[in-house]
Amino acid sequence: MQTIYRLEDLRAAVASSKIGEKTLALVPTMGALHEGHLTLVRRARELADAVAVSIFVNPRQFGPGEDFDAYPRRLEDDAALLRAEGVHLLWAPSPDVVYPEGFATTVSVAGLDEPLCGAARPGHFDGVATVVCKLFNQVQPDFALFGEKDWQQLAIIRRMARDLDLAFPRAEAIIGVPTVREADGLALSSRNQYLTAAERAQAAALPRAIQAAIADLRAGADADAALEDLRTALLRGGFARVDYADLRDAETLEALDGLGSRPARVLVAAHLGKARLIDNWPVE
Ligand code: PAJ
Repeated sequence: MQTIYRLEDLRAAVASSKIGEKTLALVPTMGALHEGHLTLVRRARELADAVAVSIFVNPRQFGPGEDFDAYPRRLEDDAALLRAEGVHLLWAPSPDVVYPEGFATTVSVAGLDEPLCGAARPGHFDGVATVVCKLFNQVQPDFALFGEKDWQQLAIIRRMARDLDLAFPRAEAIIGVPTVREADGLALSSRNQYLTAAERAQAAALPRAIQAAIADLRAGADADAALEDLRTALLRGGFARVDYADLRDAETLEALDGLGSRPARVLVAAHLGKARLIDNWPVE
């Protein structure tokens, strides 16, 4: 595995990895890798001849007072994990490589970035779309893989790829990977390490409450009532605040007041201790 820090070196490595008919897949991350990230890497290896992983803690997607400084950084350990997975190329630029002086452009996916995490974290998705657009242009992958855990992020990146007619990757080659969970249902996240042992035990209330709401919805319950029960369960279970608990169209993210013919998801963000946890589940 080659670890690359400079754009000139990346361009050379990408050119050599794409010789002939070879395909390249990119897994963008912010590091502090866990089994969720590694599942994306394994899927990438199945899809493409060569796999690139980026590790960049993107300052533009953190708001003032958020955890940019506290975000775990451990490039050496991450590199060892990726090497063991057979990754070919690790792209680990520093902030001045990604945002050189004078950087002035923002990619903004209007509408999809307004509800849910967009309302709770203003500017967050501009930061995500801008950096992912740059990573796509830098690495020029044939495929890119994202976790369904960050459902709104995945919807926004797909929309961006369609709207901008991206060629690398094409919108259809943006692959969503189902959420990887702990035995008690909690979605793996680099932020779970902010939880104390007691909070970690309480955190399982989140996937449990979502599943209970989905069971109620499938049984014909009123959406408002099911979501209100979900919020109450979280607050009773030790969560301090619920940013949102919504039923939405899976693609457009429009709020729904009941199940219809189109795919829908229940999406939740809630605060427990120092962590803000997000999760979502399809309502099939
Ligand atoms: P990060 O939080 O490091 O996540 C990198 C990728 O791993 C994302 O696509 C995320 O959805 C996926 N992922 C995280 N936990 C997962 C889990 N439990 N199961 C499946 N996939 C999981 O998301 C980001 O970084 C950044 O916003 C980024 C896209 C890299 C842009 O900076």
